[in-house]
Amino acid sequence: MRILLIGPPGAGKGTQAVRLAEHLSIQHISTGDLFREHIARDTQLGRNARARIRVGRLVPDEVTIGVVTERLARPDTEPGFLLDGFPRNLAQAEALDGILADSQSQLDAVLDLELPEAEVVRRIAGRRVCRQEQAHIFHVDFDPPQVAGACDVCGGELHQRDDDREATVRKRLEVYRSETAPVVDHYQAQGLVTAISALGQVQEVLDRALAAIGQDRGELRA
Ligand code: AP5
Repeated sequence: MRILLIGPPGAGKGTQAVRLAEHLSIQHISTGDLFREHIARDTQLGRNARARIRVGRLVPDEVTIGVVTERLARPDTEPGFLLDGFPRNLAQAEALDGILADSQSQLDAVLDLELPEAEVVRRIAGRRVCRQEQAHIFHVDFDPPQVAGACDVCGGELHQRDDDREATVRKRLEVYRSETAPVVDHYQAQGLVTAISALGQVQEVLDRALAAIGQDRGELRA
């Protein structure tokens, strides 16, 4: 399956993407995670991306599209993929249309996670991520680790992301409204979008996402 997850910052895309990709045995590709890996390795791309990410702006399209094109060309995406955080504007959506056309493949579904802004702010304020493996995501109130400050999965140190400061979150929400919301219309015109409420427990949201793609927990692979 080839799936896109769209939604405002903090809606729970990463949280759901990890679970969906594991259950469907497909690759989870998060552009935010790819950029943060470059930043951690202090590559040239990472240094350029960091300046944008810190202030809540998008990384330039040519860089982002290049990173995704290279990632989607790897053979491990042949059984399918789940894109989290890409495309984020119309130029990126059109680039993805081209990549899919070139490989004679198509998307199966676009899941649009909806969450009121007050809840977005609560989720982001309490988010803690693992320094060793950023797909390990916790929340100080909603999903606390067993030992404060340590990742339950690998023991890595938990920290708050640089771009989770209040002023940056405001900017990210603004960018989402102006640049990313039109991407939903782009895919609505292709009949691919299912809106999903991201309110409620992680498992409840996962059940809604699975139902939207014609799966339920009973059909999941071990
Ligand atoms: P990115 O990393 O993609 O950030 P984002 O889209 O802003 O999304 P987040 O990672 O903040 O949130 P999420 O929806 O994944 O929520 P999560 O699961 O963590 O991008 C970061 C930056 O990189 C961008 O601002 C941009 O600069 C750049 N970038 C990335 N992609 C780009 C692109 N395509 N083009 C250009 N630039 C790009 O959950 C949040 C919290 O809530 C967690 O603490 C979690 O534990 C908790 N939680 C999750 N679900 C629930 C629930 N159901 N109930 C209670 N708590 C929950």
